[in-house]
Amino acid sequence: MSDERRLLIVDDDPLVGFQLSDILSEQGYAPEAMESGIELLEKLDSVPDNTLILLDVNMPLMNGVEVMRRIDAAGRRPSIVVMTAHASVQTAIECLKLGARDYITKPLDMDLLTVTLERVRERDALAATNSELSQRLEDSATEFRRNQAALKKLAEILRLQSMPEEFPQTTLEILRLTHELFGSELSSISLCVNRKPITYHVPALSEAGGNAELLQNALSWVMQTGNPVIHGKGAATKEGLVNDDFAAFDRSVFLPIRGDKDSFGALQISRGNTATQFTESELELLELLCAEVSVLHSNARLYENYERMTIGAITSLANALRSKDNSTGDHSRRTQIYLNRTISGLNLPKKEADLVSFAMRLHDIGKIRVPNSILNKPGPLTREEWEIMRMHPVWGYDILNSDGMLSEVAVLVRHHHENFDGTGYPDKLKGSDIPLGSRIMAVVDSFDAMRSNRPYRKAIPFEAAIEEIRNKSGQQFDPDVADIFLEGIVAQSAAETVARESQFN
Ligand SMILES: [Fe+2]
Repeated sequence: MSDERRLLIVDDDPLVGFQLSDILSEQGYAPEAMESGIELLEKLDSVPDNTLILLDVNMPLMNGVEVMRRIDAAGRRPSIVVMTAHASVQTAIECLKLGARDYITKPLDMDLLTVTLERVRERDALAATNSELSQRLEDSATEFRRNQAALKKLAEILRLQSMPEEFPQTTLEILRLTHELFGSELSSISLCVNRKPITYHVPALSEAGGNAELLQNALSWVMQTGNPVIHGKGAATKEGLVNDDFAAFDRSVFLPIRGDKDSFGALQISRGNTATQFTESELELLELLCAEVSVLHSNARLYENYERMTIGAITSLANALRSKDNSTGDHSRRTQIYLNRTISGLNLPKKEADLVSFAMRLHDIGKIRVPNSILNKPGPLTREEWEIMRMHPVWGYDILNSDGMLSEVAVLVRHHHENFDGTGYPDKLKGSDIPLGSRIMAVVDSFDAMRSNRPYRKAIPFEAAIEEIRNKSGQQFDPDVADIFLEGIVAQSAAETVARESQFN
């Protein structure tokens, strides 16, 4: 007899219990009679949830309503049909409020009792199905929301990666996201980048208590063979050999990260022994994350090659300019030192500092379009010649921005002749509207220009050049940048004096 037909009959009259048991067992039920609500309450914990209970209301010691109250207070919801006298419909209603599924009046009509019990069983079965369906719906809605959140976070991570050297860091971010998303106990990613192996674990292996060697072997195997291993299955090579290293990973998923030709990495995540296995849709999401890592890797490589080619071409152009413009070159080493001191004095982050240094090397690249006759004219320029000369920041911008790769450098170059008070060129930007890198370059470049011999004048003395920077602070130059620059110059000059003196001692 299945549990679905279990039936408890609770009636203080043993004869009623006996007769009902007799009749209902013929209808396929498995009845058990008891003579008091107290007995039912004592047994309730061992009664399966889908047991039907036929409960008499009028009983001595404890009536049916009190039994219902206690069951309700215990948080249990068994299927109870109450049996009540004609006169106590009100009592039946009270029982219904306390969770009874239905009621039937005494004296009992056996046909009606049968119909009532069947109806309650059908309703319970339907409710169980509904609850299961809504749980499944809720689970898939949760999974959907989680996947949506993951994709959003992934998009943020991908947007943040702009430089190829950030690829390992971005990969680690993706691993952290994966770890969090899947409630993983230990997550790892192994990659071969520029022929160097990199492996990350979240959390660190020492915290997770993992076996590093075993895990690395498993990751390397997946990377080399390109075979996924799900819950310890799939670890077979084409020759049919099984890799024993996966025996310890029956709660793990290992997926290869595939490149254009071969796999170049592997991702592993694992849940604890008590957790559920990974579902199909979770595996699909993991595949997607692996594919993103692969796209990132190939973008980083493309970007690197392209960047190398572009920077090579631009550097050749800058060298060509140096040979064309007789005035540049002499002070480049010292200018670089002043620039570095100013950048570190302003506490610029490394990426921005590198950008300014690079822009400084290329800031006059637009002069490549200025005719030699103007560039090296041994006398003051005419108004028309100045107009041409003043185009060089825009021409520099155009050259550097031609394919968008050096657009950030291009912007710094464009504004290196803007003045802090808005009287500069080409866009007459003012104050903090001028990029900080351009404001730095303006001070360093002007100082360098004053200290350089020109075809039409000699270099200005060191102290006079310093004085000029101080005088133009707040007009031509950003006062904060000028202060930091001057501090750097004084410190540099002192360092050089000490070095000179120690040479003679
Ligand atoms: Fe310039």
